Amino acid sequence: MKKENELQKELQSFQKLWKGGTSLSARGWDVTRKANLSRLDVDEIVRICIEPYINPETNVLEIGCNGGGWTWKFLEANEVYGFDALSAEHTGFWNYIEKKDNIHYCQVKDFNCEELEDDSIDYVFSYDVFCHISYSGTSAYLKNLFKKLKKGANCFIMIADADKYTDERGRRKLMKRAGFSNFDDFVRDYDGKPTSGRWYFYGIERFCDLLEKYGYTLVSGDVAVDADKNNPIIHFRK
Ligand SMILES: C[S@@+](CC[C@H](N)C(=O)[O-])C[C@H]1O[C@@H](n2cnc3c(N)ncnc32)[C@H](O)[C@@H]1O
Repeated sequence: MKKENELQKELQSFQKLWKGGTSLSARGWDVTRKANLSRLDVDEIVRICIEPYINPETNVLEIGCNGGGWTWKFLEANEVYGFDALSAEHTGFWNYIEKKDNIHYCQVKDFNCEELEDDSIDYVFSYDVFCHISYSGTSAYLKNLFKKLKKGANCFIMIADADKYTDERGRRKLMKRAGFSNFDDFVRDYDGKPTSGRWYFYGIERFCDLLEKYGYTLVSGDVAVDADKNNPIIHFRK
């Protein structure tokens, strides 16, 4: 497992990426939705993972909110905390999301979740983020998040899993970006050194080992099977 200073290096590895927001934030929902429809149905993810859980009483934590591409689906909630490794100036968050007292953007410097009150969060969502977080980082988040959640809180986290991610072109691209020439070696390096924007394929089983270790209850290892053809979204509860 990585030490605290190694995890901080991981957070710093994103500093040059996604300036002005990811395509979902910058180009907008409809454009991204249409461009990705063959492998990713964002509306279906909203229907399964978001809509049933968000109401004016929900306190939401979104991990890796970037420019707020998903955040605006949470705007009717009571409180919304958006965590990101990058600053709001860098991601352009407040250019896309109207400033309100109940929306909090937190640039995180570690995995401690100190920005949150204990026993305060009802719902956690994270998409296209934990695939960029090493196994040690994921372990630290799940450990530290536990006491911040209310009992029964619903969590939806997309991760990378090599068995589900079968698209050869995508595999090659991700492998090269991480500096590997063999996909199996890349997958085995699920807790390796960060390179800018790389993925970590620790997979569903290892993620579920952490859920068990820290006392969460697994609801589904892949809750939106067809909505995302490449990646699982794991649903679990405190
Ligand atoms: C590919 S972007 C996805 C952003 C957004 N969820 C979306 O789908 O448009 C990944 C985001 O996760 C953030 N990130 C990476 N590691 C993080 C961590 N440990 N804690 C919080 N944010 C993190 C990055 O800074 C980046 O903004």
